[in-house]
Amino acid sequence: MGTIAASILVALGVGAAESSLSALWSRTCVSCHAARGPTIVDLSTPAGVLRHRGLSRALLLDRTMPPSISHSHAGPLSGEHGLTPDERALLVQALSTREETAKAFADLTPLPQTAVKSEHRLVGRGSWTVPERGGMQVRTMLIPIEVGAPNRIRGISWQPEPGTPIRMLSFAADPARLLRMIETAPDEPLQCMGNAGAVPSGALGALTRTMPSFMLPDGWAMDLPPGDLAIEVAAEPAGRAMPVRPTIQLIPARASDSRTIHAVALMPSGLELAPGACEERVLDHATHGSPHLVGAIVKGGAFLRSVAIDAVGPTGAVRPLLSVPDLRMAFIQPLLLKTPLQLGDGDIVRATFGFDNSIANPQQPYDPPRPVVTGMPPEGEDATVVLLLGT
Ligand code: HEC
Repeated sequence: MGTIAASILVALGVGAAESSLSALWSRTCVSCHAARGPTIVDLSTPAGVLRHRGLSRALLLDRTMPPSISHSHAGPLSGEHGLTPDERALLVQALSTREETAKAFADLTPLPQTAVKSEHRLVGRGSWTVPERGGMQVRTMLIPIEVGAPNRIRGISWQPEPGTPIRMLSFAADPARLLRMIETAPDEPLQCMGNAGAVPSGALGALTRTMPSFMLPDGWAMDLPPGDLAIEVAAEPAGRAMPVRPTIQLIPARASDSRTIHAVALMPSGLELAPGACEERVLDHATHGSPHLVGAIVKGGAFLRSVAIDAVGPTGAVRPLLSVPDLRMAFIQPLLLKTPLQLGDGDIVRATFGFDNSIANPQQPYDPPRPVVTGMPPEGEDATVVLLLGT
């Protein structure tokens, strides 16, 4: 969960001591299922819960909801939607009949909406229409930065239009390199990944339909290089051809946000996955100067099945930070630690990617599976872990 939503919950006194089922529900479900929220399913009112009671119960029982990336056992990087088995059983019980549901969630009140200011509203350039069907598609688009926009930010937010095909926006900034590439096709989004430049896509955070606000913890900020913003846009066909044109907002840093985040991308290269193949890749980043790990952004296509992030100390001691055995890119969200983790000088941050090109992969787009190499989804795999490190 983003720090905005987290601090709202803290302000409401929800979190540490869960006094009611409604509070548990707000924490684990409403964060992604609010009115005007990123999903079409509104679970923020008693009527909304009643309407989706049966399906919610089924999805809780088969552990589809909340998505696996947000299970509490996934590690400290995984956010706050986690449910213990006992809590899951409580919710399932409360959803078993209409009467019980009405009683259990009678005091459910919608979360306050975060105020949206119209300043610094920026619109993507170029036109891209996602086709009616197919797999996840990735394009790079530019967002021109207007005069007066902040050059140091602590967050970015996005108002997804209802039904938008966009699943994820990852922000980079490397105008020089991108402008050179764009000269060939000035109004078209680039057929390339946002990692085109020296600054990895995700260097300035990421947004998803389920987490449309990306906020750094208090005290931290990111610098925007001069020029345009480059965004890697991942979109999934929604049954009809739809335009993709994200409108985002920059949230300026305050004077007290004096510490600076930079990004390191870990990206397995030269993948060659034969049909049916499963393969693990491990990439290490050796730190220096005892940085803080503030967050991580996991990106990828259909063939990234699992991901783990660990901190490895000088004696080889492993501290697990994230472990998601069954990743669904459609459900992924940028991960921020509640408290940034100070690493020792020379500690290693290790990302382990599990690739699955077998028919058993629930995201497998092809039957029978086809050979897969590094490249753009849906045919290729562009798995990346971007580490957000602060000094
Ligand atoms: C991290 C975000 C997230 C959390 C937390 C979450 N969901 Fe979802 N949920 C989604 C997304 C994304 C979808 C897909 C909806 C879409 O595509 O618009 C979804 C879909 C659903 C659906 C509709 C499924 C369908 O087939 O129409 C239900 C019901 C649901 N969720 C219930 C829950 C319940 C109950 C909880 C809490 C236990 C929960 N969700 C927590 C993201 C989330």
